[in-house]
Amino acid sequence: MGKKVILSGMQPTGQLHLGNYEGALKNWVSLQNDYEMYCCIVDWHALTSDFEDIGRMKERIIQMAIDYLAAGLDPEKSVIFVQSEVKAHAELHLLFSMITPISWLERVPSYKDKAKELGLDSYGFLGYPLLQAADILVYKADAVPVGQDQLPHIELTREVARRFNHLYGEVFPEPEALLTKFPALPGTDGRKMSKSYDNDIRIADSEDETAAKIKKMFTDPQKLRKGDPGRPEICPVYGLHQIYTEGHEDILEPCRTGKLGCVEDKKRLIENLNETLRPIRQKRIELEKDHDFVIDVLKDGASRAIQRTTPVIEEVRKAMNLAW
Ligand code: TRP
Repeated sequence: MGKKVILSGMQPTGQLHLGNYEGALKNWVSLQNDYEMYCCIVDWHALTSDFEDIGRMKERIIQMAIDYLAAGLDPEKSVIFVQSEVKAHAELHLLFSMITPISWLERVPSYKDKAKELGLDSYGFLGYPLLQAADILVYKADAVPVGQDQLPHIELTREVARRFNHLYGEVFPEPEALLTKFPALPGTDGRKMSKSYDNDIRIADSEDETAAKIKKMFTDPQKLRKGDPGRPEICPVYGLHQIYTEGHEDILEPCRTGKLGCVEDKKRLIENLNETLRPIRQKRIELEKDHDFVIDVLKDGASRAIQRTTPVIEEVRKAMNLAW
């Protein structure tokens, strides 16, 4: 029996932050040993909202691929590739668009809100989750590692697979969501870590940049100086300690009694965080010197993705009586 197939996707946002790493990438790195993994950098999805800002797309893709490799995705095991290099995604998306009622897409939660928020009313934006369904099904993926927010998209994927199978015969398995239950990481301002909030700490940051960000980080606003009692449960610095500091429970008492000041506490976090990330960052620096290698990884990934998807798309054409 071959390994089960997993397909995962991420929009090319550029350099990843610790929330991306802890919430998704780290999980992928461990999954690659047990599954046949396809890691898709979804540039077409990025274009559904970011169609004006195309100048930096390639650099963003490369920066993300560097983070993948530095974090330990192994191109011998995992297939890392750019979506737009594998045209089968587009063909399947087109065919799915024929059998998918618009109402299915309009009722995907977040569609209307996001469309309004971003002022988007394009055909492509409405089709975002259907393109995602094509990404997944064109690999006949068994499972998709995603966060909670993506569950409606996986549900739609399953519905489209069922509808296709009903119309044209059994072609697609119904993929399962592999839920990554990782709580959102706090950013430096206490909100969820996010590139768009400008409160993120990146894999690519130097140790000094990391230290500077943590020194400016919000803490319990009622704890103004050492001696004041703190509330670690609402403190974003403690939120990061929970991930990066072994024995972080020992911080609770001295913080609550005021014996431990924020300056000293942050110093400890800076050391632990930098130590954890050191090997990844080291590798990152090496990869930065060799973009050609990274591009070769992506090209090789695309050709392996094409190998996987070609027979699937042929089967689809046969099922729909499009094969000549
Ligand atoms: N919508 C996903 C996100 O925003 C990205 C994505 C596109 C994806 N295609 C995918 C995720 C296929 C998993 C599988 O995170």
